[in-house]
Amino acid sequence: MTESTEISPKSTEIPYLLRATRGEVLSRPPVWMMRQAGRYMKVYRDLRDKYPSFRERSENPELSLEISLQPYRAFQPDGVILFSDILTPLPGMGIPFDIVESKGPVIDPPIRSLQQIEAVTPLNPEESLPFVGQVLRELRTEVGNKAAVLGFVGSPWTLAAYMIEGKTSKTYSNIKQMAFSEPEMLHQLLGKVADSIATYVKYQIKNGAQVVQLFDSWAGNLSPIDYEALALPYQQRVVEQVKAEYPDTPLILYISGSAGVFDLMPKSGVDIISVDWTVDMKDARSRLPETMGVQGNVDPGALFGSKDFIRDRMLDTVRKAGNKRHILNLGHGILPGTPEENAQFFFETAKQLDLATC
Ligand code: CP3
Repeated sequence: MTESTEISPKSTEIPYLLRATRGEVLSRPPVWMMRQAGRYMKVYRDLRDKYPSFRERSENPELSLEISLQPYRAFQPDGVILFSDILTPLPGMGIPFDIVESKGPVIDPPIRSLQQIEAVTPLNPEESLPFVGQVLRELRTEVGNKAAVLGFVGSPWTLAAYMIEGKTSKTYSNIKQMAFSEPEMLHQLLGKVADSIATYVKYQIKNGAQVVQLFDSWAGNLSPIDYEALALPYQQRVVEQVKAEYPDTPLILYISGSAGVFDLMPKSGVDIISVDWTVDMKDARSRLPETMGVQGNVDPGALFGSKDFIRDRMLDTVRKAGNKRHILNLGHGILPGTPEENAQFFFETAKQLDLATC
């Protein structure tokens, strides 16, 4: 095993991934994968057959812990992410949801009226999400300093999109109708969601999350002027509240299809930009301030290619990202159907990289 031979003795004190967030020069980037627990893994599918309800798998602390650890045991990534969903806090705000097989998230009835927005309640994570705190604490105990524990949340625009559309959407017609015909109503919802999500991030950090990723997955669907009005201010509202209490916890922001709004992302106040694969890593570096970290950005589809192809794409990314403040990842979640041995190869190859020679 080549595991961690390049890491200095100091590394036993803090997880390797956190050294990248602190700006240390490293011989290889730390590595984890968005959606690293999930359907591409046989152990996950077997467990899903036994527990078919997504809500149960993600809200029963024993199951959520077990699933979070499945990729950790299989691949020893440098980051272990809580198994949950961005929609998990919604019931605690008075909005029930379900995830239906082959259909995705369902929120019924969707939020379309002022009355419904006024009825959205502030989140009390201790009360409605005790299992999240429990799993994060247990993950820290389980992985020690061998990996960093990551928490995550949905950012207000993306969560509001689910609340208002009621499901995954290609056009975002309902939320845009509200945005462009009754903006103050939408702003009221976005503000409420931002305050609850800020509380939720702080709760995750308090319970052991060492890094937290904000998913504004669908903000890339906005024109830059609308991004500045509808997504960015609420990312900032979350980040400001979290940083006021936890200035040292690194925050990552991810947007899918971010090329058009990429230059605006640092304004959110996060420490690290998770770059999707539509932006070249060299271009990403040149468009971001030097002190900013980057994460990503291999096309998840590359894992359907040959081992040589996967390796070439990884090398392309790491060469362009450089030896500081880079967390190697995919440009979005790993896709269902990805051969598990290719995921394994991705992690093994990452662990063997040496930036001095590649
Ligand atoms: O990264 C991890 O391993 C943690 C797990 C994780 C899940 N959802 C588990 C999950 C994370 C980080 C999420 C975040 C999430 N959920 C996002 C942001 C990330 C992104 O993809 O942009 C979004 C938009 C959602 C909403 C959501 N939940 C979608 C679009 C789906 C997929 C629907 C489908 O069936 O394809 C879900 C369900 C979901 N969340 C699954 C998993 C593993 C698949 C359903 C299952 O396993 O039964």
